[in-house]
Amino acid sequence: MSTTLIETRNLTKRYGEKVAAKDVSFDVHGGEIFGFLGPNGAGKTTTIKMIVGLLQPTSGTVRVAGHDVQREPLLAKAASGYVPDTPNLYAKLTGRELLRFVGDLYDMDRPTVTRRIDELLRILDLTAAADDTVDSFSHGMQQKASLAAALMHDPQVLILDEPTVGLDPKSARLIKDILRQMADRGAAVFLSTHILEIAERMCDRIGIINRGEVIAIGTMDELRTLGQTGGASLEDIFLSLTGGAEEAAIAEILK
Ligand SMILES: Nc1ncnc2c1ncn2[C@@H]1O[C@H](COP(=O)(O)OP(=O)(O)O)[C@@H](O)[C@H]1O
Ligand SMILES: [Mg+2]
Repeated sequence: MSTTLIETRNLTKRYGEKVAAKDVSFDVHGGEIFGFLGPNGAGKTTTIKMIVGLLQPTSGTVRVAGHDVQREPLLAKAASGYVPDTPNLYAKLTGRELLRFVGDLYDMDRPTVTRRIDELLRILDLTAAADDTVDSFSHGMQQKASLAAALMHDPQVLILDEPTVGLDPKSARLIKDILRQMADRGAAVFLSTHILEIAERMCDRIGIINRGEVIAIGTMDELRTLGQTGGASLEDIFLSLTGGAEEAAIAEILK
């Protein structure tokens, strides 16, 4: 049995009357890419921020690489990398300086930092821009730099919030390949998306979240069975799982 690297149990976040995430429970194992699929406002970012320790849950627990995120935040963070929905980088640093800074944060030794920076810049096709400041980068380049920063310490767990939004197809493909390589080497990759096709193409298992609640988890085949739609696409599964009352959400998700 593979290792459970992300474990959420009844994670709940309330904002006054509003319940942004309700009893969210799932496991993500080493070696898999897990997709967290749901329409805008479903609770994906809220859940992710609780997993990475940026948001305190109202109730429930989350463990990352075996560490309780509330009680052992540093150990959980040392084992994981996080790519937020909008890149949040030190704009006045060059790409290379940014990655060196991140390497220092993770207490990596200098030769490893230098080797890792060169490797990541090459893989992510950022070498030519490495000595330009981050604020001169395009949105796509900033997203790739954000991924490079999350990968510096070769984390066991990688968490990405809508990683392909605004990316050109070539960069999206590049990121897809990198995530697959991470999983093949035993890492757990967790990504959120509001796009069915991305979940279907990139992920081994998918959890569908709607209005703060996880309504189905499984492989495509399992979701197909769950949706009792035979060989239908995930779009049909989503439709059959949520029913007609969710038309607005579905229209959103199908955009
Ligand atoms: N700080 C906040 N205060 C109040 N409501 C919030 C806050 N953050 C998120 N929400 C609400 O929680 C719900 C889930 O948001 P979010 O997790 O960002 O969804 P997603 O990432 O799936 O689009 C939304 O209805 C959103 O408006
Ligand atoms: Mg979001």
